Amino acid sequence: MIGVTGASGSVYADRLLEILSEKIERVYLVASATGEKVAKHELHSDSLLLRALSGRLEKSEKSVIRVFAFDDLFAPCASGTSAPDAMVVTPCSMGTLSRIAAGNSGNLLERSADVVLKQRRKLLICPRETPLNLIHLRNMTSLVEAGAEMIPLMPGFYQHPKDINALIDFCVGKILEQLAISHELYKPWNSRMR
Ligand SMILES: Cc1cc2nc3c(=O)[nH]c(=O)nc-3n(C[C@H](O)[C@H](O)[C@H](O)COP(=O)(O)O)c2cc1C
Repeated sequence: MIGVTGASGSVYADRLLEILSEKIERVYLVASATGEKVAKHELHSDSLLLRALSGRLEKSEKSVIRVFAFDDLFAPCASGTSAPDAMVVTPCSMGTLSRIAAGNSGNLLERSADVVLKQRRKLLICPRETPLNLIHLRNMTSLVEAGAEMIPLMPGFYQHPKDINALIDFCVGKILEQLAISHELYKPWNSRMR
Protein backbone atom coordinates (compact mmCIF):
# COMPACT_ATOMS: atom_id res chain seq x y z
CA MET A 1 0.00 0.00 0.00
CA ILE A 2 1.23 3.49 -0.83
CA GLY A 3 0.21 6.56 1.17
CA VAL A 4 0.94 9.93 -0.40
CA THR A 5 0.99 13.08 1.75
CA GLY A 6 1.49 16.79 1.21
CA ALA A 7 5.28 16.83 1.50
CA SER A 8 7.20 17.80 -1.59
CA GLY A 9 8.34 14.80 -3.67
CA SER A 10 5.17 13.25 -5.15
CA VAL A 11 7.47 12.10 -7.96
CA TYR A 12 8.80 9.40 -5.60
CA ALA A 13 5.27 8.06 -5.10
CA ASP A 14 4.63 8.19 -8.83
CA ARG A 15 7.77 6.18 -9.63
CA LEU A 16 7.14 3.70 -6.80
CA LEU A 17 3.57 3.18 -8.03
CA GLU A 18 4.86 2.60 -11.56
CA ILE A 19 7.36 -0.04 -10.43
CA LEU A 20 5.17 -1.80 -7.84
CA SER A 21 2.29 -2.08 -10.29
CA GLU A 22 4.63 -3.99 -12.63
CA LYS A 23 6.05 -6.21 -9.89
CA ILE A 24 3.18 -7.11 -7.57
CA GLU A 25 -0.42 -8.24 -8.00
CA ARG A 26 -2.24 -5.51 -6.10
CA VAL A 27 -1.24 -2.00 -4.98
CA TYR A 28 -3.52 0.00 -2.72
CA LEU A 29 -3.19 3.78 -2.99
CA VAL A 30 -4.43 6.58 -0.74
CA ALA A 31 -3.48 10.26 -0.80
CA SER A 32 -4.16 12.96 1.75
CA ALA A 33 -6.07 16.03 0.57
CA THR A 34 -2.86 18.09 0.56
CA GLY A 35 -0.94 15.15 -0.94
CA GLU A 36 -3.22 15.28 -3.95
CA LYS A 37 -2.86 19.07 -4.26
CA VAL A 38 0.93 18.96 -4.04
CA ALA A 39 1.01 16.10 -6.60
CA LYS A 40 -1.06 18.24 -8.98
CA HIS A 41 1.43 21.07 -8.45
CA GLU A 42 4.55 18.92 -8.93
CA LEU A 43 3.63 16.25 -11.49
CA HIS A 44 2.52 16.14 -15.10
CA SER A 45 -1.21 15.46 -15.39
CA ASP A 46 -0.43 12.29 -17.40
CA SER A 47 1.65 10.80 -14.58
CA LEU A 48 0.44 7.43 -13.31
CA LEU A 49 -0.16 8.86 -9.83
CA LEU A 50 -2.38 11.71 -11.04
CA ARG A 51 -4.24 9.44 -13.44
CA ALA A 52 -4.87 7.04 -10.55
CA LEU A 53 -6.03 9.79 -8.18
CA SER A 54 -8.35 11.31 -10.76
CA GLY A 55 -9.94 8.02 -11.89
CA ARG A 56 -8.17 7.96 -15.28
CA LEU A 57 -6.50 4.53 -15.13
CA GLU A 58 -6.63 2.09 -18.04
CA LYS A 59 -8.60 -1.13 -17.43
CA SER A 60 -5.39 -3.18 -17.11
CA GLU A 61 -3.96 -0.67 -14.59
CA LYS A 62 -7.21 -0.75 -12.58
CA SER A 63 -6.84 -4.50 -12.11
CA VAL A 64 -3.63 -3.84 -10.15
CA ILE A 65 -4.01 -0.37 -8.60
CA ARG A 66 -6.87 0.14 -6.18
CA VAL A 67 -7.42 3.73 -5.11
CA PHE A 68 -9.17 4.54 -1.83
CA ALA A 69 -10.62 7.85 -0.69
CA PHE A 70 -8.78 9.57 2.14
CA ASP A 71 -11.90 9.52 4.33
CA ASP A 72 -12.94 5.94 3.51
CA LEU A 73 -12.56 4.36 6.92
CA PHE A 74 -14.68 1.44 5.69
CA ALA A 75 -11.87 0.36 3.31
CA PRO A 76 -10.34 -3.11 3.97
CA CYS A 77 -6.96 -1.69 5.01
CA ALA A 78 -8.66 0.17 7.89
CA SER A 79 -9.07 -3.18 9.66
CA GLY A 80 -6.48 -5.49 11.16
CA THR A 81 -8.33 -8.40 9.52
CA SER A 82 -7.26 -7.10 6.08
CA ALA A 83 -4.01 -5.31 6.83
CA PRO A 84 -1.73 -4.84 3.84
CA ASP A 85 1.56 -6.78 3.95
CA ALA A 86 3.43 -3.50 3.83
CA MET A 87 2.73 0.21 3.63
CA VAL A 88 5.01 2.94 2.30
CA VAL A 89 4.21 6.54 3.18
CA THR A 90 6.01 8.55 0.53
CA PRO A 91 6.59 11.42 0.55
CA CYS A 92 5.71 11.71 4.25
CA SER A 93 4.97 15.17 5.64
CA MET A 94 5.93 16.09 9.18
CA GLY A 95 2.22 16.53 9.88
CA THR A 96 1.27 12.96 8.93
CA LEU A 97 4.44 11.63 10.55
CA SER A 98 3.45 13.26 13.85
CA ARG A 99 -0.10 11.95 13.67
CA ILE A 100 1.01 8.38 12.94
CA ALA A 101 3.54 8.64 15.79
CA ALA A 102 0.74 9.78 18.12
CA GLY A 103 -1.66 7.03 16.97
CA ASN A 104 -4.06 9.68 15.72
CA SER A 105 -5.99 7.74 13.07
CA GLY A 106 -8.44 10.31 11.72
CA ASN A 107 -8.28 9.28 8.06
CA LEU A 108 -7.57 6.17 5.99
CA LEU A 109 -3.88 6.92 5.51
CA GLU A 110 -3.19 7.33 9.24
CA ARG A 111 -5.49 4.46 10.21
CA SER A 112 -3.83 2.08 7.72
CA ALA A 113 -0.39 2.98 9.07
CA ASP A 114 -1.69 2.36 12.60
CA VAL A 115 -3.12 -1.02 11.53
CA VAL A 116 0.12 -2.03 9.78
CA LEU A 117 2.06 -1.25 12.96
CA LYS A 118 -0.34 -3.05 15.30
CA GLN A 119 -0.40 -6.11 13.04
CA ARG A 120 3.40 -6.06 13.01
CA ARG A 121 3.59 -5.64 9.24
CA LYS A 122 6.12 -3.42 7.47
CA LEU A 123 5.63 0.33 7.71
CA LEU A 124 8.11 2.39 5.70
CA ILE A 125 8.06 6.11 6.36
CA CYS A 126 9.83 8.32 3.81
CA PRO A 127 10.05 11.78 5.37
CA ARG A 128 10.87 14.91 3.39
CA GLU A 129 11.72 18.00 5.35
CA THR A 130 14.78 20.07 6.03
CA PRO A 131 16.02 21.26 8.43
CA LEU A 132 14.54 18.94 11.06
CA ASN A 133 13.48 20.26 14.45
CA LEU A 134 13.52 18.28 17.70
CA ILE A 135 9.80 17.50 17.39
CA HIS A 136 10.34 15.90 13.97
CA LEU A 137 13.27 13.88 15.30
CA ARG A 138 11.36 12.75 18.40
CA ASN A 139 8.40 11.67 16.27
CA MET A 140 10.72 9.70 13.99
CA THR A 141 12.27 8.02 17.03
CA SER A 142 8.81 7.07 18.37
CA LEU A 143 7.90 5.52 15.04
CA VAL A 144 11.11 3.51 14.78
CA GLU A 145 10.62 2.36 18.38
CA ALA A 146 7.11 1.21 17.39
CA GLY A 147 8.52 -0.87 14.53
CA ALA A 148 8.41 1.49 11.54
CA GLU A 149 11.40 1.95 9.25
CA MET A 150 12.57 5.45 8.40
CA ILE A 151 13.76 5.92 4.81
CA PRO A 152 14.47 9.63 4.37
CA LEU A 153 14.21 10.85 0.79
CA MET A 154 17.93 11.62 0.56
CA PRO A 155 19.47 10.68 -2.77
CA GLY A 156 23.15 9.70 -2.81
CA PHE A 157 25.62 10.79 -5.46
CA TYR A 158 28.18 7.96 -5.40
CA GLN A 159 26.47 6.24 -8.36
CA HIS A 160 27.23 9.35 -10.49
CA PRO A 161 23.56 10.06 -11.36
CA LYS A 162 23.18 11.20 -14.98
CA ASP A 163 19.92 13.04 -14.45
CA ILE A 164 17.10 13.77 -12.04
CA ASN A 165 15.48 10.39 -12.82
CA ALA A 166 18.55 8.62 -11.49
CA LEU A 167 18.24 10.58 -8.22
CA ILE A 168 14.57 9.62 -7.92
CA ASP A 169 15.41 5.98 -8.68
CA PHE A 170 18.07 6.01 -5.99
CA CYS A 171 15.43 6.74 -3.33
CA VAL A 172 12.84 4.40 -4.83
CA GLY A 173 15.46 1.63 -4.98
CA LYS A 174 16.09 2.07 -1.25
CA ILE A 175 12.36 1.59 -0.61
CA LEU A 176 12.21 -1.54 -2.81
CA GLU A 177 15.21 -3.02 -1.00
CA GLN A 178 13.42 -2.68 2.36
CA LEU A 179 10.41 -4.41 0.78
CA ALA A 180 12.73 -7.20 -0.44
CA ILE A 181 11.67 -6.50 -4.05
CA SER A 182 14.47 -6.88 -6.57
CA HIS A 183 15.10 -4.01 -8.97
CA GLU A 184 17.53 -2.68 -11.53
CA LEU A 185 17.18 1.00 -10.75
CA TYR A 186 20.91 1.21 -10.12
CA LYS A 187 23.83 -1.15 -10.05
CA PRO A 188 24.68 -2.76 -6.72
CA TRP A 189 27.89 -1.30 -5.31
CA ASN A 190 29.64 -4.70 -5.39
CA SER A 191 29.06 -4.99 -9.17
CA ARG A 192 31.98 -2.54 -9.48
CA MET A 193 34.37 -5.14 -8.01
CA ARG A 194 33.57 -7.88 -10.57
C1 LIG B 1 4.13 22.90 -2.27
C2 LIG B 1 4.18 22.40 -0.86
C3 LIG B 1 5.28 21.67 -0.43
C4 LIG B 1 5.35 21.19 0.88
N1 LIG B 1 6.44 20.47 1.25
C5 LIG B 1 6.50 19.92 2.48
C6 LIG B 1 7.58 19.07 2.84
O1 LIG B 1 8.48 18.80 2.05
N2 LIG B 1 7.55 18.51 4.07
C7 LIG B 1 6.52 18.73 4.96
O2 LIG B 1 6.56 18.16 6.05
N3 LIG B 1 5.50 19.56 4.65
C8 LIG B 1 5.45 20.15 3.44
N4 LIG B 1 4.38 20.95 3.09
C9 LIG B 1 3.38 21.25 4.10
C10 LIG B 1 2.33 20.16 4.21
O3 LIG B 1 1.64 20.01 2.97
C11 LIG B 1 1.31 20.52 5.31
O4 LIG B 1 1.92 20.42 6.57
C12 LIG B 1 0.07 19.67 5.28
O5 LIG B 1 -0.78 20.03 6.36
C13 LIG B 1 0.38 18.20 5.34
O6 LIG B 1 -0.85 17.51 5.31
P1 LIG B 1 -0.89 15.93 5.19
O7 LIG B 1 0.13 15.40 6.12
O8 LIG B 1 -2.30 15.58 5.58
O9 LIG B 1 -0.64 15.60 3.78
C14 LIG B 1 4.29 21.46 1.80
C15 LIG B 1 3.20 22.19 1.36
C16 LIG B 1 3.14 22.67 0.06
C17 LIG B 1 1.92 23.44 -0.38
